[in-house]
Amino acid sequence: MDKLVINNLTKSFGQTGVLHDVSFTVREGEFLSILGPSGCGKTTILRILIGLETADSGSIFKDGEEITSLSPSKRKMGIVFQNYALFENMSVLKNVAYALRKSETLRGTFSKEEANQKAREMLELVGLSGHLEKKLAQLSGGQQQRVAIARTLALNPDVILFDEPMSALDVDTRLSLRSELKELQKRFGTTMIYITHDQEEAFALSDRIMVMDAGEIHQLDTPANIIDHPADDYIRNFVIKNIEIKIHSLIRFAVPTEGICK
Ligand SMILES: Nc1ncnc2c1ncn2[C@@H]1O[C@H](COP(=O)(O)OP(=O)(O)O)[C@@H](O)[C@H]1O
Ligand SMILES: [Mg+2]
Repeated sequence: MDKLVINNLTKSFGQTGVLHDVSFTVREGEFLSILGPSGCGKTTILRILIGLETADSGSIFKDGEEITSLSPSKRKMGIVFQNYALFENMSVLKNVAYALRKSETLRGTFSKEEANQKAREMLELVGLSGHLEKKLAQLSGGQQQRVAIARTLALNPDVILFDEPMSALDVDTRLSLRSELKELQKRFGTTMIYITHDQEEAFALSDRIMVMDAGEIHQLDTPANIIDHPADDYIRNFVIKNIEIKIHSLIRFAVPTEGICK
């Protein structure tokens, strides 16, 4: 079933056309990546989906209902940014519990104790049970991003949008957070849209990938189909070649771990 249907989004800033007639659908429970180089319009799509930006034309439907002009708080979508957007002076627990208490959609649903309980559960799922009373500044970047993910999941949105959430993190943290995110998505079944310019990340995480350049969609398909049936030269030259180079270098530099052949 389609969770989101996006029809003919067009957007310009001044004289600059940023999105040109962008249409796509996102399926219920799907992990969809939007992959494309810096400046191609990924964040603009996301801001239009969540209601922080208005398209010049086009429409958006969620669960069959038009949401094109709905305010952000009525869309039941969560967002995780690159820079966490957390409350620096609050504890880890409070960051999540406070969001539950103050959410416009959930307002009044949780007592203080219930919000704390729910926050503890969500933080346990992202491996932060031992850090509940710490301040944000005492956490690593990866841990802060886990708090942001726990906070967004706690609010139980219909769709979660991620805008390059790993780009400030080191490679090891990225790899572990990547598999944790995939596990969380399976567990919750939440529809996720994940923006990245990192091809490897998109191919590792996604049910489908929407490849964009200069405000247009080049291909929207499964990772396997993109590799087996590239839609055009752009996909062949910039996506598949890169992925192949990365795979080759991984094989070339892979050193067998000691003891693995015993
Ligand atoms: N508020 C804005 N005002 C003017 N230009 C903008 C604004 N937001 C984005 N742009 C321009 O739109 C283009 C696409 O930006 P963006 O959606 O952020 O790309 P991406 O996320 O793919 O890097 C860029 O050229 C950017 O400079
Ligand atoms: Mg961006």
